[in-house]
Amino acid sequence: MNTNLSTQSHLNYSQRVNLGSYYTNLEIVDFIYGLLKKNIASFNDYCILDTSCGYGSFFGTDLPNRRIGADIDLNALKEAQKNFDSIEFYHQNGLQNISRTKYALSQKDKLIIVGNPPYNDRTSIIRHSIKLNDAGAIDDDVNTRDLGISFMLSYNKLCADFVCVLHPLSYLIKKSNFSLLKPFASNYQLLDSLIISSGVFSQTSKTMSFPIIIALYKRCLLGMDYEFVKQYDFKTSEKTKFKLKDFDSIERYIAKYPNQQSVRAQEAVAKFWTMRDINALKRNSTFIDEICSNTVFITKDKFDYYCYVDVFKEYAKNIPYYFGNCDVMIDNKKFLELRDCFRFESIKNNPCYQKNLLCHR
Ligand SMILES: C[S@@+](CC[C@H](N)C(=O)[O-])C[C@H]1O[C@@H](n2cnc3c(N)ncnc32)[C@H](O)[C@@H]1O
Repeated sequence: MNTNLSTQSHLNYSQRVNLGSYYTNLEIVDFIYGLLKKNIASFNDYCILDTSCGYGSFFGTDLPNRRIGADIDLNALKEAQKNFDSIEFYHQNGLQNISRTKYALSQKDKLIIVGNPPYNDRTSIIRHSIKLNDAGAIDDDVNTRDLGISFMLSYNKLCADFVCVLHPLSYLIKKSNFSLLKPFASNYQLLDSLIISSGVFSQTSKTMSFPIIIALYKRCLLGMDYEFVKQYDFKTSEKTKFKLKDFDSIERYIAKYPNQQSVRAQEAVAKFWTMRDINALKRNSTFIDEICSNTVFITKDKFDYYCYVDVFKEYAKNIPYYFGNCDVMIDNKKFLELRDCFRFESIKNNPCYQKNLLCHR
């Protein structure tokens, strides 16, 4: 057997980015089977399907179950076939003509989907490379801007009883993503999970890690809404825990996104760059001079809150990766006691806003 199932070696950089081919190491795969066995009483009765199997990392563990692998990348599949002779393999686009029949599964088969679907935002796909995942090859009802979310929706279409996959935590915690995930979320509930850093994947950028969740979902009538996510007790591989509901978020107090429709340029006492999440704040500017499509106009009454975000950015390097896709947190009561300090600290770095020092109480 090829011992390096998790090191992709046949694609160049842009092909790898395009297909999201970052293979999973066996430690994570073992962890996933541990979760499944712990939570599913008759685990051996289920068929196991990975619809984007790469070299077949998820088949590297001995199991009595019927197992099926598929991938759009024929060369990856050939490698997987060399490694495993007891697995049924299919060369398939997992997002097109989604049905159980294309994997020789009946409606009666008990099904667990495992894997690590590609999760690239198709709006950022590298232009000059082959475009296997162009929009035309994706069924309309699962077509979203992110391939990983589309894969999650495909698992719902396949009516898997359980889904145990890796995906960015942002699919659950960012409201815009969670609403794209709705057809899946209304039929599945998160049973068990662990957050790990994207940095564990070799061949990914180590400069700005983001949180990935290893998530076990069970199909159920209740599904989950955003309140469920807010109440959920997330655990990390560093043995920490958090709930979204434990934090207040800056979006309750200020505009994060361009607001040029609602605030006139003359009313703005300062300008700020669009604020997405903590990782974006680490990369981007805060106060800016120019007016562009990313400009947020700051009104006088909100100025100190933007100073808070500016100071928050200075310390953001100390914030663990698992909060990377969260909104900037704030304790508003404490902030109101200390707002002068934030304004003072921020203006030290942005002297052009000195004139605002006196007039914001
Ligand atoms: C993150 S890798 C995971 C591979 C393997 N499951 C693992 O964990 O090692 C994503 C895989 O998705 C495949 N892929 C991308 N788009 C696909 C599509 N539309 N249909 C099927 N597979 C696809 C890629 O070729 C790649 O092998």
